[in-house]
Amino acid sequence: MSNPKQMLPAPILFSGDEPFWEATRTGRLLVKKCNHCGESHYYPRVHCPFCGSGDTVWQEVSGKGTVYSYSIVARSRRPLAPAIIELDEGVRISSVIADADVYALKIGDTVQVQFMPTHEGPPAPAFTTIAAEAARAYSRQALMALGEIHASASAAFQRAAVIGAGNMGTGITLSLLAAGLEVLLIDSTQGSLDKGVERITESLTQDTSKGRINVTHKAELLGKLRTSTAMRDVADADVIIEAVWEQMALKKEIFVALDKHAKPGALLATNTSTLDVGQIASVTRRPESVVGLHFFNPAQVMKLLEVIRSTSTSAAALGAAKALAKRLGKTAIVVGICDGFVGNRLMIARERQASRLLLEGALPQQIDRVLREFGLPMGTFELQDMAGGIELSYRARKGTPTADWLIERLFELGRIGQRAGKGYYRYEVGKRAPIADPEVASLIYEASALAGIARRHISDQEIHDRLILPMINEGAKLIEDGIVDRASDIDLVWQFGYGWPNWKGGPMYYADNLGAAAITKRLIELHSKHGEVFRPAALLTRLAETGQRFTALPA
Ligand SMILES: NC(=O)c1ccc[n+]([C@@H]2O[C@H](COP(=O)([O-])OP(=O)(O)OC[C@H]3O[C@@H](n4cnc5c(N)ncnc54)[C@H](O)[C@@H]3O)[C@@H](O)[C@H]2O)c1
Ligand SMILES: [Zn+2]
Repeated sequence: MSNPKQMLPAPILFSGDEPFWEATRTGRLLVKKCNHCGESHYYPRVHCPFCGSGDTVWQEVSGKGTVYSYSIVARSRRPLAPAIIELDEGVRISSVIADADVYALKIGDTVQVQFMPTHEGPPAPAFTTIAAEAARAYSRQALMALGEIHASASAAFQRAAVIGAGNMGTGITLSLLAAGLEVLLIDSTQGSLDKGVERITESLTQDTSKGRINVTHKAELLGKLRTSTAMRDVADADVIIEAVWEQMALKKEIFVALDKHAKPGALLATNTSTLDVGQIASVTRRPESVVGLHFFNPAQVMKLLEVIRSTSTSAAALGAAKALAKRLGKTAIVVGICDGFVGNRLMIARERQASRLLLEGALPQQIDRVLREFGLPMGTFELQDMAGGIELSYRARKGTPTADWLIERLFELGRIGQRAGKGYYRYEVGKRAPIADPEVASLIYEASALAGIARRHISDQEIHDRLILPMINEGAKLIEDGIVDRASDIDLVWQFGYGWPNWKGGPMYYADNLGAAAITKRLIELHSKHGEVFRPAALLTRLAETGQRFTALPA
């Protein structure tokens, strides 16, 4: 869910237009100027549309202009607006606005040309907004703030060991193999190892059938994979990543064994998503070498790696973790220990409100539409259907005070998500498009009634505020508590881990655009009606008073 460059359909190529397409390859936009009447017009017309003369020449234009008119394509993978642009030179051209917040577009907005890849064709001109360009420039700066990592440091990794051949362990193994490392996969039983290797092989087979790697390459990768049930075999690994069940006692047991067998200087990592990395490190005689490496599911695909430092983690270990991330082609963001780290902490704040809004009067399709129109690649309920969130939530809450009537009914009805063809939505066989389901709506109505809540109309604006402002508020607390080094790190986590578009910066960049004063004011209103999560963070209040911006705070 990073931000792949959007692709446009292949353009139709007419003879005589070669100079136009040659120019797009070097990032220049051409129009045709009529020698007869002096007017300019835009490709693909051969004759002058004003006087009919064929006596025309190519002329380079600035590519800057304003929006003359536009419409928005519903349900495209990324927001896309076909538009007529009035260039500064006075020529109107018909194009599209992409990689920009098209739902925030206004007639007269300033836009500039960008050249986008097409399916099997030369780059084609499209337009983007000045606001989107500014956010992208900010995103590039945010990446630069992470610092350079020397290739030599990344090359130092040759052998890795992964403990736990489950879902995450096999994904991490695939990622390490793809980066050219030798991997030793360890699990407690041969049966689990066999299943893990089967999953790895299946995934590589899929890669070959999709043409991502060839058969020889697949064999090479599998040739670099070894398995074992004996912990002592980790002795020659440069990095060891633990991905066993999420239980503190078990993790500690594993780290005692790793400490005993790993070579000096090896990087010892845990993939825990909730446990205290400092506590895990404390059972070893080398807590300075222990870090959290929080991979995202599926680990071989997701580009984000949260690197968790404990108070005892050394600078050298952090450096090694970042170098490993680079080798894996991932973006490493160093974060401190806290509930949910950075990504999930903000996600959970959003999900809680989403569930609450269902009870108060919204439906999944309304909430998800608001999030898509905001610019996210997917709504929260679609995402849960894709990731099996209902089942995870059911198992995590069952028998606890957080048990949830709606989640339990959905689970009991087998509505565990896309995999079952139904969850918060229903799905047609083999298709991924979510379809609103009346059965879910009536369950939600029943849940509201059981909770004694009179359903009301909920505006899109309220959904936006209830979902996005708590994320910003949590982000402010993370900065305040020193969990992140800088606000832009939170933004990068959301770009690389959750598909927040780089043309909208990230939650904290977005907060700066809204303004701390406006956010604080709205949070105070929401706090009086909807509880503690809306109490403005101290940092937010301070910024509101001083007029400072999150993204301008010193690191
Ligand atoms: N699932 C996710 O989305 C996700 C994302 C990030 C992090 N995590 C974390 O990754 C870790 C693993 O999660 P998972 O979803 O892969 O779990 P999983 O149940 O799929 O796999 C766990 C594996 O650990 C093995 N194991 C158990 N005890 C062992 C031992 N003593 N020695 C060796 N192997 C042992 C099990 O046999 C199993 O194969 C957890 O800490 C989890 O919190 C999960
Ligand atoms: Zn003319």
